[in-house]
Amino acid sequence: MSAPPLRLGVNVDHVATLRNARGGFYPDPCRAAHEAIMAGADGITAHLREDRRHIRDEDMERLKRQILTPLNFEMAATDEMVAIATRLRPHAVCLVPEKREERTTEGGLDVRGQATALRPVIRELAETGIRVSLFVEPDDAALDAAHALGAPVVELHTGAYAEACLSGETDVIARETARIYHAAEHGLSLGLEVHAGHGLTEDNVGRIAAIPQIVELNIGHALVSAAVFVGLQDAVRAMRAAMDTGRASVPA
Ligand code: PXP
Repeated sequence: MSAPPLRLGVNVDHVATLRNARGGFYPDPCRAAHEAIMAGADGITAHLREDRRHIRDEDMERLKRQILTPLNFEMAATDEMVAIATRLRPHAVCLVPEKREERTTEGGLDVRGQATALRPVIRELAETGIRVSLFVEPDDAALDAAHALGAPVVELHTGAYAEACLSGETDVIARETARIYHAAEHGLSLGLEVHAGHGLTEDNVGRIAAIPQIVELNIGHALVSAAVFVGLQDAVRAMRAAMDTGRASVPA
């Protein structure tokens, strides 16, 4: 297939992590969102966690008020978060599993096990006009379950792929890349819009960008980390270039 455009959603959570290390107001995740957009981001992502360890309620409010590009609100499927999302009405919500003790989102949603709880949440958000995506492991069962629940979008968890890249073991990298490729193909065959994210870096993004069924990548930690040295705009531009190189490798 010829590849559709690949969007970059910039996750600004860890700008807030840095701010919260000292309290106060800087660095401001809203300023980061503006800079990312100026450098070519197609959307902004922020995760309001239950413990508010990085993004806070007022950050979500300001992001919604200040940015015109699509805002992707990552959240757990809790009553509290659904109430905030239906009031704020972001362009999109990505439902993620959340554990207080985890350092970051460690795995995809247990879509089948949580189907009864997820179904009304997906319905309520969709009825508010919000595009709902489910953050899932790249496997058929999770995609089938997401489809059965009526979610229009899935985001494939690329954490295992990123770990494989860190290991440098080529057979493991090939296996994890193939797993994401297969899941993306399966998702598209079900009529789902397929996104991916977690642990993507300028060095490892190419293989994922080369999967033509994937139309959006959400990337945060690597961009904020690179920004410490080169500034956020240059970090976003370099990521965009790495994505474009990967995408260009898809046969026409
Ligand atoms: N997508 C989802 C659903 C996530 O939970 C995260 C991490 O917050 C990301 C993408 C971005 O991951 P990273 O910060 O590793 O780029």
